[in-house]
Amino acid sequence: MTTVVDVEKLDQGRVEEFLGRVAVDSAAAFAGLSTSIGARLGLYKALAGAGWLTSERLAGRTGLNERYVREWLAVQVAGEYVLYDAETGAYLLPDEYAAVLADPDSPTYMIGAFTMLKPLYATEDALVDAYRTGEGVGWEEHGPELYEGVAAFFLPGYSAMLVQEWLPALDGVVEKLERGASVADVGCGFGHSTLLMAQAFPNSRFRGFDFHTPSIEAARREARERGLSDRVTFDLAAAQDFPGEGYDLITYFDCLHDLGDPGAAFRQAERTLAEDGACMVVEPNAPADPAGLINPIGRSFASASAVLCLPGAIAQNGPQALGNHAGEEALRTLAAEAGLRTWKTAAETLTNRIYDVRR
Ligand SMILES: C[S@@+](CC[C@H](N)C(=O)[O-])C[C@H]1O[C@@H](n2cnc3c(N)ncnc32)[C@H](O)[C@@H]1O
Repeated sequence: MTTVVDVEKLDQGRVEEFLGRVAVDSAAAFAGLSTSIGARLGLYKALAGAGWLTSERLAGRTGLNERYVREWLAVQVAGEYVLYDAETGAYLLPDEYAAVLADPDSPTYMIGAFTMLKPLYATEDALVDAYRTGEGVGWEEHGPELYEGVAAFFLPGYSAMLVQEWLPALDGVVEKLERGASVADVGCGFGHSTLLMAQAFPNSRFRGFDFHTPSIEAARREARERGLSDRVTFDLAAAQDFPGEGYDLITYFDCLHDLGDPGAAFRQAERTLAEDGACMVVEPNAPADPAGLINPIGRSFASASAVLCLPGAIAQNGPQALGNHAGEEALRTLAAEAGLRTWKTAAETLTNRIYDVRR
């Protein structure tokens, strides 16, 4: 057997420190499955606002097997997601933690990220092949929880920021939307962004486009359920040839980098924008320089890019596969080549950058 390192020569302090970090990561990776299971089974919701509960009472509330619930609670205590009182044998999910784990309407709800894990881990074999061959793994090749998880992951940020902060940061756009504007939301997925805008601006008309049939079907269902079908339509269409013309606003929410041909998408935007129309490009706030990714958000984006965004774009056989941290310069250059030469950073959050892009 070949030894890779000469253990004798190693700085043991450095080994220990690094081992500690990787051990934390491996614990988090193991625990992620329990987080996803807990969300699916309604365990966090049952704990939320309930005060101190024993495993028996939690099992009773959720209709689950007590032995399993107790084991699941041990994971939660070990990760400090749930507090434990040894005297009474009871468990508590603090309200502040419930805002992250139990309440889909909270701006800090994080469960979407965990919902994505099952389908992503399931593509490991396909990814191993793809890394060898250079082929892609298409967006449509994942399990249904991927699309549900992506939509749930982005929704809290959009709910908190889109209407309140991002649209007002685009010159003159809110005034047009209030009067009555025509909007295309490209790569809309489940259409949460489209529906948030439609809810806020009843005089405007919104068209959501995506090339993924189950997502468009989910978006249509949601529009019907929310009574917004009078002003929103969802149609199957690729970013490079979606129908319509004279749009006052064309939006791309966390999808431009997923396209196999983002340049063609910008060219289609240039063709279909009204004379004084604007594009809103929402992209991950992650830089092209890997050194800038050394933080939890950068690491999450880079990790998703390597197993989802980049393989998805490569599967489209286009000229570009940007990955989700291509950086502003690459996007700005593609837009300019398509005739969209006015580029401005309109807003920024920890996770997203919002660009105002025009002719
Ligand atoms: C990360 S998801 C974002 C979805 C949605 N905009 C959101 O923010 O929740 C990327 C979306 O881009 C769509 N997509 C990828 N390539 C596309 C293409 N060439 N044309 C249209 N949609 C595409 C996918 O189907 C997916 O819904």
